[in-house]
Amino acid sequence: AAPILIAPSILASNFARLGDEVRDVAEAGADWIHLDVMDGHFVPNISFGPAIIQSLRPYTKAVFDCHLMIAPADPYLEAFAKAGCDYITVHAEAGPHLHRSLQTIRALGKKAGVSLNPATPLSAIEQVIGDIDLILIMSVNPGFGGQKFIHSQVEKIAQARALIGDRPIALEVDGGVTVETAPLCTRAGANVLVAGSAVFKGEGVEAYRSTVSALRQA
Ligand code: DX5
Ligand code: ZN
Repeated sequence: AAPILIAPSILASNFARLGDEVRDVAEAGADWIHLDVMDGHFVPNISFGPAIIQSLRPYTKAVFDCHLMIAPADPYLEAFAKAGCDYITVHAEAGPHLHRSLQTIRALGKKAGVSLNPATPLSAIEQVIGDIDLILIMSVNPGFGGQKFIHSQVEKIAQARALIGDRPIALEVDGGVTVETAPLCTRAGANVLVAGSAVFKGEGVEAYRSTVSALRQA
């Protein structure tokens, strides 16, 4: 089976020492660093933007997995590319021209992702399946860490795995992922797990290492 990648979300980390948190969680075995960007408009919360991501870039070589919960996204894609993001994921609900957003991300030399809110059907991305490198299934309503996993999304993960077929597309799940819910996601076909509060409830490299490996093994 393909390896399961763990992508801790630094949304749940200590913002007063973000650089150290990124370095520590990468040293603890995180495969990707998940960066939750929120604009107070597409979602009812505000987090951080490209300047902070750029200042975090020197702290690790780990893949920067940027989840844009912003609308519109297009005017900011270049800034996130220049900040050092490797994957840039936009929401299918964030604007009327998803295909254009995806093409822009790829033209910037980055991997293009699409995220779907819990209420959005998988059919929203059928027509752009050839233009994406990652599908991000939201298993909570985006905006906040620490929410409960929405079980109805497991079926959508399975549908996405079937849609992907043998295309080289990553299938990521975000929201409420714990050692209890992780196996539901991976059994349905997910290969990248985002975890915020589950990882950062502990503190320091050793605590992060034990949760990251527990998630990977779950
Ligand atoms: C939610 C974010 C998630 C969130 C996950 O809007 O996209 O990445 O930080 O946090 P947990 O793992 O605590 O649900
Ligand atoms: Zn996220």
